[in-house]
Amino acid sequence: RRYSRITGTGSSLPPRRLTNADLVAELAQRGIETSDEWIVERTGIRARHFADPEVGSSDLGLEAARNALEAAGVQPQDIDLIIVATSTPDMVFPSTACILQNKLGANGCPAFDVQAVCSGFVYALSVADAMIQSGAASRALVVGAEVFSRILDFNDRTTCVLFGDGAGAVVLEASDTPGILSSDLHADGKHVGILCVPGNVSGGQVLGDPLLKMDGQAVFKLAVGVLEKAAHAALAKAGLTESDIDWLIPHQANIRIMQGTARKLKLSMDKVVVTVDQHGNTSAASIPLALDHAVRNGQVKPGQTVLLEGVGGGFTWGAVLLKM
Ligand code: ACO
Repeated sequence: RRYSRITGTGSSLPPRRLTNADLVAELAQRGIETSDEWIVERTGIRARHFADPEVGSSDLGLEAARNALEAAGVQPQDIDLIIVATSTPDMVFPSTACILQNKLGANGCPAFDVQAVCSGFVYALSVADAMIQSGAASRALVVGAEVFSRILDFNDRTTCVLFGDGAGAVVLEASDTPGILSSDLHADGKHVGILCVPGNVSGGQVLGDPLLKMDGQAVFKLAVGVLEKAAHAALAKAGLTESDIDWLIPHQANIRIMQGTARKLKLSMDKVVVTVDQHGNTSAASIPLALDHAVRNGQVKPGQTVLLEGVGGGFTWGAVLLKM
């Protein structure tokens, strides 16, 4: 049987780092009141990175991709599939994947974006895995890249303190041994309104509101339950149980959602990779960023079993279970 396996990881963060204190001071200039205590207590976030105006998702994704290729010992021209998960593309079209492909010098291979907001990376990884299993590709670059700072309403303190910019990437190669063990993806479009950027481009203008809107409590209530179900489904498909998990790498939205998910899976927080404190919520980039961080600091080791879990706008959610 043909499987897919991660052979390299990489990530990228824009240099401009704002601690909660920095953000509190910036927001105060607009007359918006918040505090380090409120942000840390409700979210676990202490800092985030924001890209400069000329930097797009393709630029952050490019740096992450180069780091992943180097880790895998693979040249750009050896890549035969590029999938970018993003909700903050460089342009309406063409895809950020095409723009990144050209900057990388991997021209010719299929390249497309996946739009599943904060679940984007687990969606993209599942698609790449399926294409490798089917023989349609052999060496894929899967990227999550976001500049959420562009779509934040800095007059809305309930959302603007939560997000950051960044990118993460993996090289996924065909293998005789797994690799990716199972995946479980879902969406329920009846929840479109609880987390969205409702605006659109029409007739040369932006119609509707181009900034992020979220019903935080509704998102919170849905997130923990669906993450538990997706985790159990992915484990069941692979014939494994919770005790087989070495590391849980959930979407880094909020430490309380992550703690709730770990509790439901009977995992101690020692087995959960946490980067939300330093990165904030980077949407589709958060899981590959956290994975790369954990690989490079020696937490996640070859041969270990890792559960990736995403949840976000759509509402979308899913899990990918894999061996490193
Ligand atoms: N600073 C200070 N006070 C604030 C802030 C802020 N930044 N934001 C809201 N408040 C106030 C509110 O005005 C409210 O005041 P009031 O009681 O006087 O009306 C009070 O804090 C409590 O507000 P709630 O909305 O009830 O706060 P809650 O405890 O629900 O926390 C939060 C809000 C953090 C957004 C929470 O609902 C949450 O974590 N939701 C999950 C959403 C999430 O993480 N989304 C990420 C994107 S989705 C995804 O990635 C899955």
